[in-house]
Amino acid sequence: MDRDRMIRGFVAVELPAEVRGFLADLVDRVRSRGIRARWVHPDRMHITLRFLGEIPAPRFEAVRAALARPIAAGGHPELVPAGIGTFPPRGRARVLWAGLRGDTAVLGRCALEVEGRLEALGFPREPRPFRPHITLARARSPGGIAGLDRIGPEIRAAQGPGFRVTHLTLFESRLRPQGPEYIPRAVVPLDPGS
Ligand code: 2AM
Repeated sequence: MDRDRMIRGFVAVELPAEVRGFLADLVDRVRSRGIRARWVHPDRMHITLRFLGEIPAPRFEAVRAALARPIAAGGHPELVPAGIGTFPPRGRARVLWAGLRGDTAVLGRCALEVEGRLEALGFPREPRPFRPHITLARARSPGGIAGLDRIGPEIRAAQGPGFRVTHLTLFESRLRPQGPEYIPRAVVPLDPGS
């Protein structure tokens, strides 16, 4: 291991192909309204539970070890992509996202468990509450993503296929000029529960 190497990492839920297909279609419908933004490629869409920032390689290994034991947070949550929204919710939108319905409370407990294990390693607590979402696009400029009022109610209410989350993934993110590359580095199992 190169001990000095810095690794940008995050813990996330990977999305099955049929969900990414639904999201690709959703993005096409939004884009057809003439909305301009930096769109996330469907292959790279995910639900972030915890962003780690840039950390030295040995610390990344410590995170991997801390997340090797299954997470017991109420089983394998069933999630359904549903609806769209923005961060911040009003004013200049920096992020356009797809929301989630279903066992989001279980997913929230998974995020808390990850948070607790990272805190034991000295990571500061995430100050913001966990808001499960799938980022679809980011603003190209400080002016935000314009024209979102052109998105009609049928797109806002769109609901995708349900899927069950059996594990989380610890990713390394490599920033490149053509966009980030996300490399799975470890599987974080979720205890199936009883
Ligand atoms: P989000 O898009 O799901 O909100 C990989 O870079 C993921 O980590 C991104 O998808 C983003 O989550 C999250 N992320 C990136 N930079 C971040 C930052 N500075 N603070 C919090 N989360 C960040």
